[in-house]
Amino acid sequence: MSPVLENKKIVCGITGSIAAYKVCDWIRSLRREGAEITAVLTDSATEFVTPLTFAALTGKPVYRKMFSGQNEERIPHISLARGCDLILVAPATAQTISRFAHGMADDLLAAIVMATEAKVVICPAMNSRMYLHPATQENIGKLKEYGYLVVEPDCGMMACGEEGPGRLPEWNQVREAIISTLTPQTLYGKTVLVTAGPTEEPFDPVRFIGNRSSGKMGYAMAAVACQMGARVILITGPGSLPAPAGVELVRVRTAEEMYMEVMSRFDTADIVVKAAAVSDFRPAEISSQKIKKTHEKITLQLIQNRDILQKLGEIKNRRINPPLLIGFAAESDHLVEYGQEKMQKKNLDFIAVNDITAADSGFAVDTNRIILLDRQGGQIEFPLLSKEETARRIWGRVVSRADRST
Ligand SMILES: Cc1cc2nc3c(=O)[nH]c(=O)nc-3n(C[C@H](O)[C@H](O)[C@H](O)COP(=O)(O)O)c2cc1C
Repeated sequence: MSPVLENKKIVCGITGSIAAYKVCDWIRSLRREGAEITAVLTDSATEFVTPLTFAALTGKPVYRKMFSGQNEERIPHISLARGCDLILVAPATAQTISRFAHGMADDLLAAIVMATEAKVVICPAMNSRMYLHPATQENIGKLKEYGYLVVEPDCGMMACGEEGPGRLPEWNQVREAIISTLTPQTLYGKTVLVTAGPTEEPFDPVRFIGNRSSGKMGYAMAAVACQMGARVILITGPGSLPAPAGVELVRVRTAEEMYMEVMSRFDTADIVVKAAAVSDFRPAEISSQKIKKTHEKITLQLIQNRDILQKLGEIKNRRINPPLLIGFAAESDHLVEYGQEKMQKKNLDFIAVNDITAADSGFAVDTNRIILLDRQGGQIEFPLLSKEETARRIWGRVVSRADRST
């Protein structure tokens, strides 16, 4: 759930594509997150999904015609264009994209898009030859020039049996695009380096020492920074989470690999978020063969890994513009005390401490309850929130602190 969508007025333009039915679910998701949706259908769209479906899903009348003969005192394309925060056109056919690109206003949706000052997000969906046709590509280029956000279609098998680019993107990707569009770009121009997830320390070809981190909090920090306009590099340990839209993903396995990847990018980062659960130790030796079950007991000797956060804290002030360092701490007691100690010891600017004894926060779950401490003695306790919303609150504090110090 994102409060960014709460009470936002979104005009959803649906056009004549076989993918129109998928948008029914998107509308439900948007409404669940508090958005108010008005559906506008092209004539061709009504061949695929009925206006009644969209009326039921939006809880509002559906607009189809420029000249409807009803409410004639209200000019629909102007009142809809003026009264919304965002226009989402999904699926957008080749025909509609061409209409928009050429400034045609011969149907209601095209006229609304021309008349609006709101943000416009367009999700093309069509056969891949239609999509790759130079005319479509040129038209999409024009839409980008006009300042519309065009979400790249997915690649894969189409309803027509052909394979290639042109599939309507997945909802997660479109949701990210909508939220970014509605979010003030307060991290624009900043490079944010985020680490997330567990590390794995192998001791034979199939076994390793790992930990329970899912990476969800770090991924949320990366996704929200991206929504706020930052360039985001996400260095992640193993896991099954999908990469947030727009981030540059670097996959690693061990603590040592993570160390190397972080260090090689540290100089370019304005802000570093260390949310990964990096193993403190690794096996002293890695057997090249699978260790057989021939002994009752075996002993693993462990040696300490390099402490990435400690190292960053040590070297950050060597830079002319030292980056902000944000750490995470998972504690079971004395949260504030241990958090403050870690912040001092590792020379951090912020530390987010979470209580790992609570079932609804910390590892693997989707929610978190954290205390955010800062170097100036600031302390704020956030209530139980989704990890996405926790990330948004943390970034809010970080940005206001950065604003104060510039
Ligand atoms: C079964 C069927 C599926 C179609 N799917 C698409 C599609 O996915 N993308 C597209 O650009 N056109 C598709 N078309 C063609 C459009 O419906 C046609 O170009 C129409 O004029 C689009 O009008 P509109 O943009 O005003 O909605 C499809 C047509 C049919 C008959």
